[in-house]
Amino acid sequence: MKRPWLFMLAALVAVRLLAWAVPTVRAGSPQAPPEAPAEATAKAPAQTPDAAASEPPAGHGAFDVADCKSCHEAVFPKFEKTAHAAQAGSCANCHGDVAGHLKTVTETGEPGPLDLISLKNKKARAVSETCLGCHAKSHHAKWAGSPHDRRGVACTQCHSVHHPMSPAAQLKTATEIETCYSCHGAIRAQGLRTSHHPVREGLMSCSSCHDPHDGSKPKLIKADYTNELCLQCHTEKRGPFFWEHAPVRENCLNCHNPHGSNHDKLLVSQQPWLCQRCHLNTRHPGSLYSGINAAGDAASPSNRAVEHACKNCHQNVHGGNAPTAPYLGR
Ligand code: HEC
Ligand code: HEC
Ligand code: HEC
Ligand code: HEC
Ligand code: HEC
Ligand code: HEC
Ligand code: HEC
Ligand code: HEC
Ligand code: HEC
Ligand code: HEC
Repeated sequence: MKRPWLFMLAALVAVRLLAWAVPTVRAGSPQAPPEAPAEATAKAPAQTPDAAASEPPAGHGAFDVADCKSCHEAVFPKFEKTAHAAQAGSCANCHGDVAGHLKTVTETGEPGPLDLISLKNKKARAVSETCLGCHAKSHHAKWAGSPHDRRGVACTQCHSVHHPMSPAAQLKTATEIETCYSCHGAIRAQGLRTSHHPVREGLMSCSSCHDPHDGSKPKLIKADYTNELCLQCHTEKRGPFFWEHAPVRENCLNCHNPHGSNHDKLLVSQQPWLCQRCHLNTRHPGSLYSGINAAGDAASPSNRAVEHACKNCHQNVHGGNAPTAPYLGR
């Protein structure tokens, strides 16, 4: 290294910065990093809903929620109707030392550097940890490492503690799909295509197929693999069939798009090209320009592009049960 002194200076500065940051976790103080270490948030709600029944979180003084109202009226109307308001500890469960804050504002008339936990500007993971302090049960326990967690989406990007808009589950928008569409524009566009699951009609929702909390499943779907998901509702496609069609067994999405398509029946492509993506060298070649008719008459035009194309003859694309009808026919 040409300039060792420069390196040492940098190291010294780093050590000095660390020494400042570690013991001071007061969110408002100027030296503290914008993000207080997780320990500060993790401690506050370290109680389960059941344990919450008796007293405010340890280490935080008593306060009267009515006192908070005089200054923070806006956060109350909807909050008061939710389960969170009924928890012992109330505001302190998420905001930490609110009694200290109350004391400071009433005595000095100024909030000063906030000793409590402000969740407005916290990093996503710190906010989610606050919530998981109580909610890390059942499927929520599998939140850590889920695609949303990894990409910095917090619980509060879908849910609102103070201003929920949905009739259930305290979502930020009136309907679930609006919440999801606020980020997933491409899925919204697919849902507007002619063939679609009845999501925009309100008969199904994203959570019919996805569990946004459970990161243990591929693509957050509500089953271990795609076919298991589809077959929960489309049971007639489960089989077993006498004549199986390999791609159907493998993955329904070989031919369908779950969110929408401008082809019939959510198909990813139009027939006969749908089939020809895989079948090129069959006994009646897939090419429409071969001049060869499936019936064997070279003079007449191909009958593989008209009407239902391949499906004119291979009706049971999902599998068939007639012992005398191999090749997925009837
Ligand atoms: C005398 C008025 C007053 C009272 C009473 C009061 N606060 Fe505050 N509070 C403030 C002010 C001023 C701020 C800083 C400005 C702001 O963010 O609104 C603040 C900030 C906060 C914040 C941080 C908001 C943010 O930006 O994230 C929370 C949370 C909070 N107060 C909760 C409480 C709770 C809980 C109580 C009751 C125990 C309470 N306050 C009582 C005046 C008050
Ligand atoms: C279940 C957790 C939770 C509880 C309990 C809770 N809050 Fe909050 N509060 C939040 C979150 C999260 C935010 C950040 C805003 C957001 O993301 O919606 C917030 C924001 C605030 C703000 C900032 C203003 C705003 O609307 O963004 C104030 C003030 C506040 N809370 C006061 C209170 C008071 C007073 C109580 C008790 C009556 C309370 N909170 C109880 C989670 C909670
Ligand atoms: C002090 C414990 C505690 C904390 C902290 C907490 N919750 Fe809750 N929450 C509960 C309890 C108890 C219920 C009601 C029972 C249930 O649904 O599990 C509840 C219910 C909910 C519900 C369901 C509402 C419904 O109508 O079904 C949502 C959504 C929710 N909480 C989100 C959050 C979010 C987001 C946070 C973090 C900002 C959070 N909670 C922090 C205890 C807590
Ligand atoms: C991507 C959006 C999204 C995120 C992020 C999210 N949720 Fe949810 N949550 C939903 C939707 C949608 C529902 C309602 C449908 C359902 O129950 O699956 C829901 C339902 C809930 C419920 C009530 C039903 C139940 O399962 O108990 C709770 C409690 C809850 N969420 C807590 C949380 C917590 C805690 C976090 C953060 C660790 C979180 N959510 C993150 C979208 C989200
Ligand atoms: C605040 C923005 C935001 C909201 C709201 C949101 N998502 Fe996401 N979602 C993301 C991001 C970011 C990713 C990661 C994308 C990536 O890695 O390419 C993601 C990924 C996903 C994935 C793909 C998972 C994977 O393994 O690739 C699914 C499924 C998903 N979200 C469903 C939902 C559903 C359902 C809702 C509504 C309940 C929702 N999202 C709401 C931001 C959001
Ligand atoms: C009929 C079931 C179903 C419904 C309803 C559904 N999805 Fe999906 N979604 C799936 C399946 C299956 C996958 C996995 C696709 C894959 O493996 O490539 C998926 C994948 C995704 C992905 C990841 C996309 C990618 O290319 O990796 C996102 C984001 C997503 N869905 C969001 C949503 C949103 C938002 C809604 C509600 C508007 C929704 N989904 C409704 C079944 C569904
Ligand atoms: C929660 C139940 C449910 C799940 C899971 C589900 N579907 Fe559906 N599916 C439906 C409903 C409801 C319809 C609409 C039936 C109608 O319109 O008569 C439908 C319709 C369809 C259609 C016909 C669309 C049209 O335009 O007529 C196809 C193809 C389809 N689903 C494929 C799938 C695939 C592939 C999966 C797995 C990724 C899947 N479905 C998962 C409920 C479900
Ligand atoms: C090899 C391609 C292919 C695969 C893989 C496939 N499908 Fe299909 N599917 C089709 C075609 C082609 C149609 C259109 C049938 C028609 O027009 O009558 C269709 C139609 C459907 C329909 C609506 C009409 C009906 O027959 O009920 C549903 C539902 C459906 N498929 C579900 C599934 C499910 C579930 C899977 C996975 C187990 C799956 N498909 C896998 C090609 C496929
Ligand atoms: C994703 C690739 C793929 C697609 C798309 C596909 N197939 Fe297949 N198909 C296969 C495979 C793999 C086999 C099994 C070949 C084997 O057993 O040698 C097969 C077998 C068949 C067979 C012969 C069955 C038997 O009993 O030997 C017929 C007929 C058939 N497919 C018709 C179709 C039709 C019609 C379509 C369009 C609706 C289609 N395939 C779409 C991959 C595909
Ligand atoms: C006019 C009826 C008809 C049409 C249209 C048709 N087929 Fe066939 N196909 C048959 C018959 C009959 C057999 C079995 C007899 C044979 O061996 O030729 C067969 C056999 C097959 C086989 C299994 C044997 C092999 O060659 O591997 C595949 C795969 C196949 N067809 C794919 C397709 C595809 C893809 C299309 C659309 C491009 C299509 N078929 C259109 C009648 C048809």
